[in-house]
Amino acid sequence: MATPAINVQNLTKRYGSVLAVDDVTFQVQPGELVGFLGPNGAGKSTCMRILTTWLPASSGYAWIAGFDVMYESMEVRRRIGYLPESVPLYGEMRVHEYLQYRAKLKGVERAQRNARIAHCVEKCRIKEVQNRLLSTLSKGYRQRVGLADALLADPPILILDEPTSGLDPVQINETLSTIRELGGQHTVLLSTHILTEVEKVCERVIIIDKGRIRLDETMKAIESREPSYWIEVRGPADAVLQFLREQPELASVEEKARHGEFIECEVRSRDRKDPRESLAAKILARQWGLRRLELRRVNLDTLFNEVVRQGYSTPAAANGTPETVEVAATPAV
Ligand SMILES: Nc1ncnc2c1ncn2[C@@H]1O[C@H](COP(=O)(O)OP(=O)(O)OP(=O)(O)O)[C@@H](O)[C@H]1O
Ligand SMILES: [Mg+2]
Repeated sequence: MATPAINVQNLTKRYGSVLAVDDVTFQVQPGELVGFLGPNGAGKSTCMRILTTWLPASSGYAWIAGFDVMYESMEVRRRIGYLPESVPLYGEMRVHEYLQYRAKLKGVERAQRNARIAHCVEKCRIKEVQNRLLSTLSKGYRQRVGLADALLADPPILILDEPTSGLDPVQINETLSTIRELGGQHTVLLSTHILTEVEKVCERVIIIDKGRIRLDETMKAIESREPSYWIEVRGPADAVLQFLREQPELASVEEKARHGEFIECEVRSRDRKDPRESLAAKILARQWGLRRLELRRVNLDTLFNEVVRQGYSTPAAANGTPETVEVAATPAV
């Protein structure tokens, strides 16, 4: 098997009494485009700083293209492009001077330097600010200069800490398509708070919370997670619950709420068969009122909330977006 582009084993980082990264293990294969998600303070930037050799781990290991981040940091730095959370720019330099300086520092050959800079300037759409002093750039432009810097030496692995932070909506879309184009030839690990960004560009998502990995799954697997069905019935709650539990087509029934003469349950079907029509018919035949029968697909948004709220996730823990189905009118009781 090919050497993983990123290999993290039992990585832990403490800042004094704060456990920022707690026994994290994951691999990213060459060419993968992975979204690194988590709420504020989850440990994303800390992980990325360790991977890019800017911060030592307290324990555990990490390798970039097979090189140890602790003991082979120069080899690691040669293979990564890093966009840190706050881009450190020299305010008194002009954009083109800064990129020249950075390209030289990164060992981009003199003969190719200008062409390479021009390519990155074009890709990151910063042509119009090339002659500006870095200190006068807006946040979005600083971010784009930081991205150009990360791409300068055409590194095989890109570690991008919130690459779209501070960008306007048009720039967000353009930056995302730049990143999407980089996938395939490059390995990309990018952090963001915007779940739709991950859905748009990433093939896989890793969710971290309180320093621990809560979910590591491909977008395809998430999309094909089994949906659940939300049922709200007007009728004798205990009898309704018992009836649902007796249905052979249902794999699970979870009571969610009771209010007055209504009961709400979340159910999952057996064998991936849609149970809505048969359930509706049986409920109506019992002269109960069917108030709601919804298909809830799993998506990243609901999964993220579920995972971060509840800790480790199982497919059964996932909730989904409602998609109401038409059912027969509620009969008079
Ligand atoms: N230099 C530091 N000294 C002490 N604690 C720190 C330091 N840097 C980060 N932390 C703490 O470590 C934890 C993880 O922080 P980190 O910056 O890695 O989170 P993050 O997932 O990147 O969050 P955000 O989404 O806000 O960028 C937080 O509790 C944070 O307060
Ligand atoms: Mg961060």
